[in-house]
Amino acid sequence: MKPLRLKLLEISLFYVILCFTHVVAEQYRKTYIIHMDKTNMPESFTNHLQWYDSSLKSVSDSASMLYTYSNVIHGYSTRLTAEEAEALEEQQGILSVIPELRYELHTTRTPEFLGLEKGSALFPTFESESAVIVGVLDTGVWPELKSFNDEGLGPAPEKWSGECEVGKTFKSFNCNKKLIGARYFSKGYEGAIGPINETVESKSPRDDDGHGTHTSTTAAGSAVSDASLFGFASGTARGMATKARVAIYKVCWLNGCFGSDVLAAMDKAVKDGVDIISLSLGGGGSEYYKDIIAIGAFSAMAYGILISCSAGNGGPYSSSLINIAPWITTVGAGTLDRDFPTHVTLGDGQKYSGVSLYNGKTTSNSMVPIVYAANVSNSSSGNLCLSGTLIPAKVAGKIVLCDRGGSFRVEKGLVVKEAGGVGMILANTEFYGEELVADAHILPSSAVGEKTGDAIKKYISTEANPTATIVPEGTELGVQPSPVVAAFSSRGPNPITMEVLKPDIIAPGVNILAGWSGAAAPTGLEEDKRRVKFNIISGTSMSCPHVSGIAALLKAAHPEWSPAAIRSALMTTAYSAYKDGKPIQDVATGQPATPFDYGAGHVDPVEALDPGLVYDNSVDDYLDFLCALGYSSTHIKRVTNRHFTCDSSKNYSLADFNYPSISVPLQSASGKKGDAGKGEETFDEEPKGRDRNGDDIGQAGAAAPLSL
Ligand SMILES: *[C@@H]1O[C@H](CO)[C@@H](O)[C@H](O)[C@H]1NC(C)=O
Ligand SMILES: *[C@@H]1O[C@H](CO)[C@@H](O)[C@H](O)[C@H]1NC(C)=O
Ligand SMILES: *[C@@H]1O[C@H](CO)[C@@H](O)[C@H](O)[C@H]1NC(C)=O
Ligand SMILES: *[C@@H]1O[C@H](CO)[C@@H](O)[C@H](O)[C@H]1NC(C)=O
Repeated sequence: MKPLRLKLLEISLFYVILCFTHVVAEQYRKTYIIHMDKTNMPESFTNHLQWYDSSLKSVSDSASMLYTYSNVIHGYSTRLTAEEAEALEEQQGILSVIPELRYELHTTRTPEFLGLEKGSALFPTFESESAVIVGVLDTGVWPELKSFNDEGLGPAPEKWSGECEVGKTFKSFNCNKKLIGARYFSKGYEGAIGPINETVESKSPRDDDGHGTHTSTTAAGSAVSDASLFGFASGTARGMATKARVAIYKVCWLNGCFGSDVLAAMDKAVKDGVDIISLSLGGGGSEYYKDIIAIGAFSAMAYGILISCSAGNGGPYSSSLINIAPWITTVGAGTLDRDFPTHVTLGDGQKYSGVSLYNGKTTSNSMVPIVYAANVSNSSSGNLCLSGTLIPAKVAGKIVLCDRGGSFRVEKGLVVKEAGGVGMILANTEFYGEELVADAHILPSSAVGEKTGDAIKKYISTEANPTATIVPEGTELGVQPSPVVAAFSSRGPNPITMEVLKPDIIAPGVNILAGWSGAAAPTGLEEDKRRVKFNIISGTSMSCPHVSGIAALLKAAHPEWSPAAIRSALMTTAYSAYKDGKPIQDVATGQPATPFDYGAGHVDPVEALDPGLVYDNSVDDYLDFLCALGYSSTHIKRVTNRHFTCDSSKNYSLADFNYPSISVPLQSASGKKGDAGKGEETFDEEPKGRDRNGDDIGQAGAAAPLSL
């Protein structure tokens, strides 16, 4: 695996050569989303497309439109230099010119754990559920999986007007009565990265990554019996809404997800007729009027669509939330009552437990020497088992203890294996505490908590000839307490509008089994040649589609409910204590969690069916909310795509906002509201990048590189 820096160098060299020839300074161009005020079109135009075209031509002869938008906003996207973008922003009728962001993905026992099995008799009939369409914006889909079996389903609902877009790797027969639509959006991606190389990536809705297949099958996959990952978590795998229809919008590619593509997908999803939009990606914690996802979500909400988004994997730091507009349902992550234990036995007979999803040949037959990575490396960060830092002569035939952080967990296993190691113990540092996330490592391994890691290190440093063995124990059910809040789950307080409590809710997001792409290994590593139909991964990316699917069930039971009413039902029935009355725990601290960690609590789909009181919010309520924030008419139009002037005689107050939860900011002794931003000084030491495995997360707001 080449270091990122090297790749960047190659890319800039490539550009230098181009510039010396004749091409325009493409590297100075960025993609912008141009939000047009269609009601203020200059009178000289009769057609809005002519107007868009003329406005673009007036600042650039060579720029062309990537997309035009007509449902969630009026406008278009294009690639411009900063000067051109500035010139455009000054023109009449242009609401805003927003630079595109690059977003990151936030990476079968769930239904029983949620009580869906026992409550199934209470759930809506077959017909009404199959009328609900869940749109998933992600990395695409692997349509051959049994999770997309359409047996027993009738034709697509009448309101559906989407498409099954085809490409070299995706044919019209790949869609069916379950997977009723599949589209892909690559213009923004290709504008920023260059043309898609079809030998490595499918220019079609096909999923080359696995993430989108995992999220879509979690939300609404059909039931598949005898599902497992290498025998782990075996049982029937089913989505939350097994009869709901799935529409796939591929917006994420091997090198990221781009804002102009995401907005184009939302624009189409609204037109196509989806009921729910599930979005397990994000980044950029800016004000609502600059946040493309918040802007697209507002219009979608106004069309009656519920938008469920991942809260981000920026935890356990406070104020690390993203996707927090009040018209979005923001979902954090908790654990299941399921674990994948391993036992580590040391030469002196001490036994420790950890977790792993490795089930190949193990070291169980014999004790083998164990070393601490920091002491078998010539790098100052040798403890992290980064690529090329282990000295093979000191590692061969041994188990290596690596510290977590700095690179993908599964990549550390590869580094140990390539250096000749026979096993790996992956120890949490203080940052990760006692949270254990299982991975399908390519060698015998065990992830252990900080305390266990410290104890094993002590043993290694005090023994003359330290030895160990790692034995996997399969799948353990009924683990207590559960759920606990995942350490990686992003936390409040709400960094933009402190008065609105976020996340809204938590749902299962740790060690989740769901469908996977046939084009990617369970570890996502190129060197890993294994292929699986189901994979177990973690992240708020996984908790979001649980809520999307449950929202589809509620929509089926109560077709008249607004998105806000559905969310209210989910929130007012969520629980924040275990059956014995003790509060839900936070694995990051080992202490009771707080509403800044879980919002209203953990989702309870059966209770949500009959919530009693429902807090509704109409478009007007959200307009009043924006007035209470002090937004001008222009700002309001940028967010909502509609003209509204706040009534100057009215006292708008955030306290009047009819939200199912409430947060009251108090002045602290230092005079600062809340305690946002705690711990930021150490954040840079933590890995940034793609959080496919619930790890290695960029700071909310940073468009971090998607692969390290
Ligand atoms: C596409 O990728 C393949 C495999 O990595 C490579 O051999 C080929 O040169 C690439 N093509 C282009 C046009 O970059
Ligand atoms: C560190 O170790 C690696 C692997 O053995 C080796 O290739 C590299 O040259 C070493 N670097 C230094 C500075 O000793
Ligand atoms: C690593 O090496 C240092 C210096 O030789 C030693 O003090 C320490 O105990 C070793 N740590 C482990 C875990 O072996
Ligand atoms: C708005 O607030 C001001 C100051 O608190 C008060 O004087 C005024 O009567 C209020 N107006 C309305 C319409 O409630």
